[in-house]
Amino acid sequence: GSTWHYKFDVQLKSVKRLCNRKSILTVNGRFPGPKLVAREGDRVVVEVVNNVQNNVTVHWHGIRQLQNGWADGPSYITQCPIQTGQTYVYNFTIVGQRGTLFWHAHFSWLRATLYGPLIVLPMQNATYPFGKPDKEVPIIFGEWWNANTEAVINQSLQTGAGPNVSDAYTINGMPGPLYNCSAKDTFKLKVKPGKTYLLRLINAALNDELFFGIASHTITVVEVDATYVKPFNMKILLIGPGQTTNVLLKAKPYYPNATFFMSARPYATGLGTFDNTTTVGLLEYQRPNSSLSSTKLQIFKASLPALNDTAYAAKYSQRLRSLANAQFPANVPQTVDKHFFFTIGLSADPCPKNQTCQGPNGTKFSASMNNISFVLPTTALLQAHFFGQSNGVYNTTFPNNPLFPFNYTGTPPNNTFVSHGTKVVVIPFNTSVEVVLQNTSILGMESHLLHLHGYNFFVVGQGFGNFDPDKDPAKFNLVDPIERNTVGVPSGGWAAIRFRADNPGVWFMHCHFDVHLSWGLKMAWVVLDGKLPNQKLLPPPSDLPKC
Ligand code: C2O
Repeated sequence: GSTWHYKFDVQLKSVKRLCNRKSILTVNGRFPGPKLVAREGDRVVVEVVNNVQNNVTVHWHGIRQLQNGWADGPSYITQCPIQTGQTYVYNFTIVGQRGTLFWHAHFSWLRATLYGPLIVLPMQNATYPFGKPDKEVPIIFGEWWNANTEAVINQSLQTGAGPNVSDAYTINGMPGPLYNCSAKDTFKLKVKPGKTYLLRLINAALNDELFFGIASHTITVVEVDATYVKPFNMKILLIGPGQTTNVLLKAKPYYPNATFFMSARPYATGLGTFDNTTTVGLLEYQRPNSSLSSTKLQIFKASLPALNDTAYAAKYSQRLRSLANAQFPANVPQTVDKHFFFTIGLSADPCPKNQTCQGPNGTKFSASMNNISFVLPTTALLQAHFFGQSNGVYNTTFPNNPLFPFNYTGTPPNNTFVSHGTKVVVIPFNTSVEVVLQNTSILGMESHLLHLHGYNFFVVGQGFGNFDPDKDPAKFNLVDPIERNTVGVPSGGWAAIRFRADNPGVWFMHCHFDVHLSWGLKMAWVVLDGKLPNQKLLPPPSDLPKC
């Protein structure tokens, strides 16, 4: 394969949105950040230079990083942050993956502005199973705050309240015509009649799942999270933070002077407030010649499901099936070596003495898995693991099951408090793992977008209510379940995932809503080395940042 070299200069840039100018962190002065392109089988070398006052790291979301967690990026999990003035070179090979992914900062809330597409093209001479589109277009969703996002999360962590919601959603960095003074800041896609477009959709928003649709057009879903799916048609799709979806859009035969809204707005079931505005991009049909000034411009608006339409969300996710053919098989683990049952949800901490907290009933918001709210260490877990220095950094007591079983989607227990710790699960190389992720309604029902680093997993089952270990496994799909790196665990329900632990190292698993991540909805897996040389974690690069 070839090697692709990139330089990411993290620098401040003054940007104006919603009539509000502010200085934001960017890569190379670009917002959204530059598109990173490579081919399956190729090596990617990205020199990241930190020229801002914040610490920073970059994560290549969805890239498996085989034996090579050093290039994964989550701060204090696989590396110490890149400090001001420092450089770190991310060096990785893309093995057995192709499709749409993205890169983003993985320190605090810096991914609010530090993100961009990561496109893995098929190998030279390989084709797409869905045919060749006439054009490919990345469409990356984001959120815009008029305030400084670090201040937004810090305030939330200090007061114990939920953070302020964003001021706009964006498409390729643009809020679109429905927001204040944003008509000029609108993403436009000009299409030619009859042509086929591959839209590479990426949800880089911090805290919201989004419904997306194009007025008067049906779209064909062909890939999610860089794995091919059995194509299906849908007017509206759902995409959560951390998820990517490739769709084919066939332009109508002839549609002079027509403009269609491409709209996205949240799907949300939480109790808290959220930004319920709509971002719009414009799909414009090319105007044939000049003669059409007499034809009136027509505008078509998309209608999206209700904000809390859980039934639609479920209907959509049930359509997703792996392609699972001879060329792209679904290697679903048919047996399980180790079963895990993790509760995930919001929780509360007692308010510290001499402080007033603005969380529920005067408590402080937190979030947890199996009653543990994860605490980031002050050095990187992967280093501690590799050098055999885990003492005082992490312990291996993360429970395989909840400590206090209760009716997870019914009446919450009286005690919603959790404990805090840096706890991991250790598993031998090649363990076949099943994790049932059980959403809890302790502080209200809300979906969570669980993301696993270093792996794709299969979503073998999902449902509403409490997972039933006697009945539900019989209904698992072990033939063509969707394979992905981020799953939406249904609000008031559960999802069961399986993966084979064939990538040694330390791998973060967390909610991709950054607010829940900050509150502790995260944990890590330590996957031990296997016996063969290609089953061992490689040594760290010499420029790995120090804490
Ligand atoms: Cu895209 Cu740990 O994140």
